[in-house]
Amino acid sequence: MVFKLNSHLLSRIASSNGHGEDSPYFDGWKAYDTDPHHPTDNPNGVIQMGLAENQLCFDLIQDWLKKNPKASICSPEGLNEFRETAIFQDYHGLPEFRNAVANFMEKVRGNRVTFDPDRIVMSGGATGAHETLAFCLADPGEAFLVPTPYYPGFDRDLRWRTGVKLIPVHSDSSNNFMVTREALENAYERARLDNIKVKGLLITNPSNPLGTILDRETLRSIVRFINEKNIHLVCDEIYAATVFSQPDFISIAEILQEDIECNLDLVHIVYSLSKDMGFPGLRVGIIYSYNDSVVSCARKMSSFGLVSTQTQYLIASMLSDSEFVEMFIRESKSRLAARYRVFTRGLHQVGIECLKTSNAGLFLWMDLSRLLKEQTLEAEMELWRVIIHEVKLNVSPGCSFHCLNPGWFRVCFANMDDDTMQVALSRIKTFVNKEVDTKKPKKNLRWQGSLKLLNSPRIYDDFINSPHSPIPQSPLVRART
Ligand SMILES: Cc1ncc(COP(=O)(O)O)c(C=O)c1O
Repeated sequence: MVFKLNSHLLSRIASSNGHGEDSPYFDGWKAYDTDPHHPTDNPNGVIQMGLAENQLCFDLIQDWLKKNPKASICSPEGLNEFRETAIFQDYHGLPEFRNAVANFMEKVRGNRVTFDPDRIVMSGGATGAHETLAFCLADPGEAFLVPTPYYPGFDRDLRWRTGVKLIPVHSDSSNNFMVTREALENAYERARLDNIKVKGLLITNPSNPLGTILDRETLRSIVRFINEKNIHLVCDEIYAATVFSQPDFISIAEILQEDIECNLDLVHIVYSLSKDMGFPGLRVGIIYSYNDSVVSCARKMSSFGLVSTQTQYLIASMLSDSEFVEMFIRESKSRLAARYRVFTRGLHQVGIECLKTSNAGLFLWMDLSRLLKEQTLEAEMELWRVIIHEVKLNVSPGCSFHCLNPGWFRVCFANMDDDTMQVALSRIKTFVNKEVDTKKPKKNLRWQGSLKLLNSPRIYDDFINSPHSPIPQSPLVRART
């Protein structure tokens, strides 16, 4: 029997491409999936540097689990709790879970703020939290402003099933991608001219992909902006505990505690344990809203994406262990800082710089603009193809984050072990040095850290067609280029 895909048999949502997966961000993952690097089985495969995962502290988690077998309802020590846990399905969640999460959120923010456990609403990761908030705050056709560059998943999470629009607030490399009042006003005005009702502003602090944090003055100016326009402010703070060097992270909750005029009903925080604890698979997402009606509605909606009670039980137990949590946060920051240092220094040795103002996240924002044939987003994509197919690194091009300045790439560095990181680093160095060598006049043997020669328009054609490419492209990757 032959099955035909009749799109008219499906809903508009099912047959649309609102899932946002037609993007180089996701294509890179597919390239990795078809040819994944393995130190012994496939040493020339693609290294996954497109995944913002925090895998640097699993030894600490495993140690804790060994010492606390009662935290699992599937261990002999915890079995007595199995029945009660398996039948619990209240969408308020276990009280001890909400308490532990509220405490953890305070700790991560230096205990400078307090969170009310009764305002904690569960969701399936931050992904679910964003969609739920979009459903609560806006109707189809209405919009959220989002400063660029932003996490590509937002195009799916906030828009796909809700019909909500996202309007980019463009930032620029000239001021390190700061979110300015002027850019916010411009985007707001653009929406007004297009007859689009703006219902909110979504900020990510610390930023994915920039790895920067918003300073106090910017946060105040954002609060003033949303308050004056009477629109919502959604703050995605899921990277709060990844701030690995000074200055400290400032949560929006801290600003609200200041003497600043703001209608609290407009403010909502999205949190999750996917990044700070490194548990994306556990799908622990949180909506923390200052608005009673949003808390109440989001809680009802959370029926569609509850955190399993088994996970709540485990997390409640783990996060209630203050000593462990403090040690974990400290150690995680220190390991992230070390990774960041090694990687940025390595890149610096071959003349590649990263955004200087970054001090958070699981990635760096790498400036390869000097390697572009010309300063366009097309040239950025061309370079990206070389990096993924020839250098065999899945990094994500800036355009997939809606960045308008060509040549920026997000490089994730916390989802691999030290050895793989070194392989990745040496691939980049070899790539850059090889290009410099090829183009350098032979008598000048000392390269002076400048990448100017790489601006030759032919250089990537040479590289793409090189008979010395490390390995042939996988059929799928080739088909996609
Ligand atoms: C800024 C941001 N928000 C939300 C998410 C989704 O997180 P979760 O795994 O908790 O759904 C991500 C994941 O990368 C992210 O970077």
